[in-house]
Amino acid sequence: MKHTPIKAALQCRDFGSTLTVAGWVRTRRDSKAGLSFVELNDGSSTRNLQIVAPKELPNYQSQVQKLYPGCAITVTGSLVESPAAGQAVELHAREVTLLGECDPMKYPLSKGRISFERLREVAHLRPRTNTFGCVARVRNCLAMATHRFFQERGFYYFNAPIFTASDCEGAGEMFQVTTLDLNNPPKNPETGKVDFQQDFFGKAVNLTVSGQLEAETHACALGSVYTFGPTFRAEKSNTTRHLSEFWMIEPEIAFADLQDDADVAEDYLRALFTAVVQECPEELDFFDQRIEKGLKERLVRLSTAKFARITYDEAIQLLEKNADAFEFKPYWGADLQSEHERHLAEKVFNGPVTVMNYPKEIKAFYMRQNDDGKTVAAMDVLLPEVGEIIGGSQREERLDLLEARIRELGMEPENYWWYLDLRRFGSVPHSGFGLGFERMVRFCTGMANIRDVIPFPRAPREIEF
Ligand code: 4AD
Ligand code: MG
Repeated sequence: MKHTPIKAALQCRDFGSTLTVAGWVRTRRDSKAGLSFVELNDGSSTRNLQIVAPKELPNYQSQVQKLYPGCAITVTGSLVESPAAGQAVELHAREVTLLGECDPMKYPLSKGRISFERLREVAHLRPRTNTFGCVARVRNCLAMATHRFFQERGFYYFNAPIFTASDCEGAGEMFQVTTLDLNNPPKNPETGKVDFQQDFFGKAVNLTVSGQLEAETHACALGSVYTFGPTFRAEKSNTTRHLSEFWMIEPEIAFADLQDDADVAEDYLRALFTAVVQECPEELDFFDQRIEKGLKERLVRLSTAKFARITYDEAIQLLEKNADAFEFKPYWGADLQSEHERHLAEKVFNGPVTVMNYPKEIKAFYMRQNDDGKTVAAMDVLLPEVGEIIGGSQREERLDLLEARIRELGMEPENYWWYLDLRRFGSVPHSGFGLGFERMVRFCTGMANIRDVIPFPRAPREIEF
């Protein structure tokens, strides 16, 4: 079947032409003149196409007058210049076909405005609302802009595994994967601990928290690569910024130091803002009016923004000047809290900030150690409103230093033998970063809760679908 997307039909000015459209009814109004007006939406736009259905249609009484919100129909008719205000065109129906009926007493979206909390309980239907339709389209735009950005710069798309036996971030936030009987797991008679040798993969396995370690193998062979896939973290943080399953984009670049890394990160962010501004004007207008005033202007400004670059030392000095304003006192050695990150981006720099060279104690084992013996070549990119959007670093390419750091942290170098091999055989300086995709979608839509920018959010005690 050939039908015209409603977004295209609304832009068409070929009056008198015959079109077929398909979608879901938003509302129906019957007029005394023996006509019905049906607002039809197919998810291509926030705007509906008005269908004018005359009583002469053979199924007028039996079906058209029983079209309720949610009913699926196709309509063939002629495109007419609309006399009504607020719409340029309408479709005068010659044929209305009911594809799927929808009981108004049972359909969860029958009633007007519904809270986002309630919509989360019907996450399978919420993409039919204007808000979630817009979120889905912005998400699509950001995903495609990601591929375009990296492809145009010669990065190869790399698929990291989901099951893994190594912990990238070392933060102990991994979901275990097992086929062992949890009520009666086999035990090692000597240690009394669970014997993972009898498990499916013959060792303890978890869902990946990051594809970085694996991406490094390909960067150290192909030059520049990027992942774009799901990652999993069993953090108990029940916040509007954390998900247990989220998508991450992780570029990894060979022959690149920390400054090169920050250059790519900042260019990438500007490219994403530019893409949404250019490709999603209707969605941004919607979010600007309904969700967050000033959103559109902020994204336009960011699409060409210069990023401030400061060191962690400088960040702490700036924060200490304002120590009274924070719940958590900033001091050298402490990780930056969300309130600190936002203060830097919103109050101090009024724009994005890249913070570099964090204390090694608060960062992961693989980061390159700086000559001061205290810090590592890490960088976080901070945005207003959300705080950390990107975390990255130059990787430790010196075998002896990396091995020593792994030991120092009580980890076993043997478990990282293949990762260390990259430092044994033709080691090169290399760098990369990770962007939390949902944090970006949230930022570009103004949605308050990260659960509302991923189709089916996974968070502690939340996995209905
Ligand atoms: O800073 P993170 O933990 O860095 C890494 O995982 C590195 N391996 C990346 C790399 O260098 N290749 O995570 C990267 C980003 C964060 O800046 C944040 O935007 C996002 O991932 N993120 C989350 N997003 C949603 N829910 C969570 N629980 C997140 N944890 C991190
Ligand atoms: Mg981080």
